[in-house]
Amino acid sequence: MKPTSKASPIIFPTLLLVIILFYCIPNAAATAATFNVQDFGAKADGRTDSAKAFTSAWAKACALTQPASIIVPKGRFLVGSVTFGGDQCANKAISFEIQGTLVAPSDYSKDNWLVFEHVDGVSIRGGVLDGQGTSLWNCKNSGKGSCPSGATTLEFSNSKNIFIGGLTSMNSQMFHIVINDCQNVKVQGVTVTADGNSPNTDGIHVQGSTGVTILNSKIRTGDDCISVGPGTTNLWIEQIACGPGHGISIGSLGKDANEAGVQNVTVKTVTLSGTQNGLRIKTWARPSKAFVRNVIFQDATIVNARNPIIIDQNYCPDNHGCPNQASGVKISDVTYQNIHGTSGTEVAVNFDCSPKNPCSGIKLEDVKLTYKNQVAQASCSHADGDALGQVQPQSCF
Ligand SMILES: *[C@@H]1O[C@H](CO)[C@@H](O)[C@H](O)[C@H]1NC(C)=O
Repeated sequence: MKPTSKASPIIFPTLLLVIILFYCIPNAAATAATFNVQDFGAKADGRTDSAKAFTSAWAKACALTQPASIIVPKGRFLVGSVTFGGDQCANKAISFEIQGTLVAPSDYSKDNWLVFEHVDGVSIRGGVLDGQGTSLWNCKNSGKGSCPSGATTLEFSNSKNIFIGGLTSMNSQMFHIVINDCQNVKVQGVTVTADGNSPNTDGIHVQGSTGVTILNSKIRTGDDCISVGPGTTNLWIEQIACGPGHGISIGSLGKDANEAGVQNVTVKTVTLSGTQNGLRIKTWARPSKAFVRNVIFQDATIVNARNPIIIDQNYCPDNHGCPNQASGVKISDVTYQNIHGTSGTEVAVNFDCSPKNPCSGIKLEDVKLTYKNQVAQASCSHADGDALGQVQPQSCF
């Protein structure tokens, strides 16, 4: 008996099984349920409120446990304020696939436009969010007062395992994107655009969150490009182009006495052009238990920022509630490594720390910032640290 004739009855069914599995497993994953918002009554006419269609599609997707996609086709969809809640949602893989534009209501009556709350495993891919903020900014800039505050464009709150990719947020009324009390969030390839004079239009604001990564994004706006609020830990920011805007800012922190600290933040390979600040840490001049520790700013190019490197612990807008007080926020172990560029003012490096809690463990390594092609200045107040490699302006520790 030849050995092959005995083996073949086993080999053939095994091969068949392998082939079946090969074709079926990827197909099972690919057959995500899809829900087109137009099938729920959304109108791409730019003026019919499609909020109900969006919440109906969300409810359908939530009822499933297999992956689901909510499709927003090309066109302009006016969408009133919506909260996508996760409490009744069984689905841990819902993806919004947006080809068109979502348009915010322009009555400015709400503080939030699109909110995701208590969700797990939500992605937003592509699309444009148009906040229609222009006339609100004009009202605020006119100085006549009594303007509504306006809405944050997109907020994730108390959520986890979130992906936001390839999204454009334009002309937000207030903050563009807010990540609040979340875990494991990735923001990638996002574009934020708003006028350089638009008030309070922060690009991406992170607070109370851990494991947030922001990659490869372009932010042009009227306030901070990225702002980091209390209770943020394990934040990674890389490949960001910022400007116009107020720069990348940790803070304001320490407004409240009992406030969570900020820890383990990496800001890497960023370009800041024509911004008010470059790399900033800012705290209120008030008592607080908050802290900032283990921060690294690495490989930054700064073009003509008014304050390229700044720690400001004497923040006290309108001298209200803080004059003659010292910040309770302890700032330690902050590294500036390989930072190059130009300053729009003579003082390119400014460490204005708290007399009560001096900054410690500040490290400057290979920093070169000039002012009008000349040597710039560094200013230190209650700051201690080390300079390594080539540091210009010469450090003031
Ligand atoms: C710091 O945060 C990064 C993510 O940004 C994480 O990978 C790393 O483990 C964190 N380090 C510590 C000591 O927690």
